[in-house]
Amino acid sequence: MYYIGIDLGTSAVKLLLVDEEGSITSTVSKSYAVEYPRPGWSQQNPADWWEAVTAGARELMAGVDTAQVRAIGTGGQMHGLVALDAAGEVIRPCILWNDGRTEEEVCFLNETIGRERLSGLAGNIAFAGFTAPKLLWMRKHEPDNFARIAHIMLPKDYLTFRLTGEFATDYSDASGTLLLDVEHRCWSAEMLEICGVSEAQMPRLMDGAEAVGTLSAAAAQELGLPAGTVVAAGAGDNAAAAVGCGAVAAGSCNISLGTSGTIFIPSDGFRVDAHNALHSFDYVEGRYHLMGCILSAASCSGWFVGDVLKAEDFDAEEAASDPAVATVDLPYFLPYLMGERSPHNDTAARGAFVGMRADTSRAQMVRAVREGVAFAIRDCVEVARGEDIRIERSTLCGGGSKSALMRQTLANVLNIELDLPETEQGPGYGAAMLAMVAAGDAPSVEACVGRIVRMRGSVVPDPQAVAAYEERYQIWRQMYPALKPIYRQMAR
Ligand code: XUL
Repeated sequence: MYYIGIDLGTSAVKLLLVDEEGSITSTVSKSYAVEYPRPGWSQQNPADWWEAVTAGARELMAGVDTAQVRAIGTGGQMHGLVALDAAGEVIRPCILWNDGRTEEEVCFLNETIGRERLSGLAGNIAFAGFTAPKLLWMRKHEPDNFARIAHIMLPKDYLTFRLTGEFATDYSDASGTLLLDVEHRCWSAEMLEICGVSEAQMPRLMDGAEAVGTLSAAAAQELGLPAGTVVAAGAGDNAAAAVGCGAVAAGSCNISLGTSGTIFIPSDGFRVDAHNALHSFDYVEGRYHLMGCILSAASCSGWFVGDVLKAEDFDAEEAASDPAVATVDLPYFLPYLMGERSPHNDTAARGAFVGMRADTSRAQMVRAVREGVAFAIRDCVEVARGEDIRIERSTLCGGGSKSALMRQTLANVLNIELDLPETEQGPGYGAAMLAMVAAGDAPSVEACVGRIVRMRGSVVPDPQAVAAYEERYQIWRQMYPALKPIYRQMAR
């Protein structure tokens, strides 16, 4: 038996074929473009996702007996606004999770409606990437498009729609819309009213490991798969990654370093932090989680090494930036290339190198970028620590975790042990696990974790480096507050 896990990412969709023992038998990745029509905006065409999925599925299944495929699960980039008209056509490109166009709408929600009220209704305050402010933006700037909306959904739910013809979402992803009453797991009538939409436009709410239905005849033909293949509701990519890394029970933790960087802290009960700096979202099988999300993580090294240095050999650049490079007068880097979500909630924030000298080297700058990302994750960890949440250790996944230097830097900066799952395909693997449960081939997500998730090793913090990074972090953390008023002036 096989299960297909689909990770609908920002730069590419990754498809995994997983057998019942949890072994990944093949993977395919298909990339697509992100449009940046204006500075700080980012959008994507849902048709590109579907095209990549259908092409990818056929490649994935080459030489495999398709009759053995039991179920498909999806994990997808969160918060994106996909709007369809009554005929099921996409109305406009999806506005992505890292799009910063909604500053005015975020301000309206947080200041006029008020943070306390939002937190009471939806368990969260507004952040620019969330779906609700995007609806308000569309209502104001594209009233004709807004009037045509018949169905609102998240990116992976568009795949579900194309796969099954059903409009469904799961609680983890729905949490990131700011339209869900996270604590009680239902759409918030008041939030829908504030955004000028109705429950009839929203997808059905389900647990991520529940079956939405089976492949439609049309989708089965396009993908070359049996029409009876079960499709799970799936999860937001961070929830799916946490499942894939085995971070399901309260007390566990997962860190993901992809385009964004996240720290995901599961819990049995609903809770919010004092300032709603972390997201308070649903998870699978009745659980909740707190999550900090930094908008630019692995993408910072991609930007600096690839776009700025125009270097092709990322590993060579990394190796040259070994921690042995003298730390004296090492510059600092603020990773806010797309503004920042957690904990600052500031679309005007920008990336910065601080402390450059005439003798600052390329290697030092590469290292500073890596550290800046680790420090930004530490900012989120500090919020959790301030709430008396003990994070003893964490699993680590995502493209950024492939770098041994990044892994060690993060362990040192956070001063925790990091466990490395055998498969680093977090969201796709978790999505395949949700598919197994939805098909009835595993009794629960937790049981599935116990059966197939294994670690291949761990990274232990180095006490000397911990002390050195502590000093650097204490300096670094003063930089954002100092630059904040300047960022404001620059944004005018
Ligand atoms: C989480 C978030 C990002 C995207 C990336 O809140 O916005 O992690 O899900 O795909």
